[in-house]
Amino acid sequence: MTPQLIDPFARAITYLRVSVTDRCDFRCVYCMSENMTFLPKKELLTLEELDRMCSAFVLLGVEKLRITGGEPLVRRDILTFFRAMSRHLDSGALKELTLTTNGSQLARFAGDLHAAGVRRVNVSLDTLDPDKFARVTRWGRLPQVLRGIDAARAAGLRVKINAVALKGFNEDELFALTEWCAAEDMDLTWIEVMPMGDLGNEDRIGQYWPVSEVRAQLATRYSVTDLAHRTGGPARYVRLEETGQQIGFITPLTHNFCESCNRVRLTCTGELYMCLGQEDMADLRAPLRASESDAPLIEAIHKAIGLKPKGHDFDYSRQRADGQVSRHMSHTGG
Ligand code: GTP
Ligand code: 5AD
Ligand code: SF4
Repeated sequence: MTPQLIDPFARAITYLRVSVTDRCDFRCVYCMSENMTFLPKKELLTLEELDRMCSAFVLLGVEKLRITGGEPLVRRDILTFFRAMSRHLDSGALKELTLTTNGSQLARFAGDLHAAGVRRVNVSLDTLDPDKFARVTRWGRLPQVLRGIDAARAAGLRVKINAVALKGFNEDELFALTEWCAAEDMDLTWIEVMPMGDLGNEDRIGQYWPVSEVRAQLATRYSVTDLAHRTGGPARYVRLEETGQQIGFITPLTHNFCESCNRVRLTCTGELYMCLGQEDMADLRAPLRASESDAPLIEAIHKAIGLKPKGHDFDYSRQRADGQVSRHMSHTGG
């Protein structure tokens, strides 16, 4: 399908990330505060409304749909929504239906997700040490996530591990995580920590481990080859020749990838964020609810895409967390 959503910088918007809940069963330190207040359930779009929203985007040329949260698998009846979206896979309009998850509920859902047409999941996991895992997620338990990952693979889902690169936290696990992913045939992506949410007493500059240093560290042990291959996300990939595995780097701080941005984010209340790193958003819930016809919604989507900014302003170079966004990451699911 020819993309119909073209932003002011001539970028085609073909990737929609949908946060289906702001809730989560973990409290990762870089994502949420310990005492989060969540949205009252009545504020949420219903699953039928989420279906209408996503279907409108698919009609407008979106080919990749990633379900996020909070933790998407804690939303009640979420499988109904995945099953509904699989009709867009069947029609060929959607090329990929996928999710980003903390893995805690995968043991329960993996088989049904595969049956709904999901072929790949991204699981957030920063450490293989159970104590460190409990510390960084505050509420999470590592064995539960490892069981979830096993279940996903057994169900035929390809797993990508997303690790936030955290200085003094998982630096010493670079090779352990790399080798574990190689042995289990999983992809691994490192993400630079972004200044989002109420930083409170979190020291983002102190936590910041530039992914360029991750790459340099890897090069001390492996031959690292840059790859041109893209998945339609912001990651750039390399191959480690000795293991043959692929490693991704998401570098909002050291390298700005915004020029090739192809995505927007819908929250569980129907706000459309045109950029992860900016405060601007457009309300799509009002036009959705205004009419049984999708015409006002489609008009509002076009208008919002016309306001997509050039990129984020995250910057640590002045030894401050510049370009900070007050929203927590869980609001838009990364
Ligand atoms: P693939 O389809 O596997 O390439 O996934 P993806 O990278 O598109 O999605 P994923 O949810 O795994 O994204 C990983 C993380 O990258 C997100 O949670 C964000 O932290 C970050 N990220 C994704 N998109 C953007 C973006 O547009 N801007 C910024 N600054 N960060 C992003
Ligand atoms: N900076 C970078 N990545 C983050 N994530 C959550 N908060 C941040 C942050 N401040 C990641 C999670 C998960 C994805 C949804 O976003 O680890 O992989
Ligand atoms: Fe939950 Fe993911 Fe945020 Fe951790 S990073 S609190 S798992 S939404």
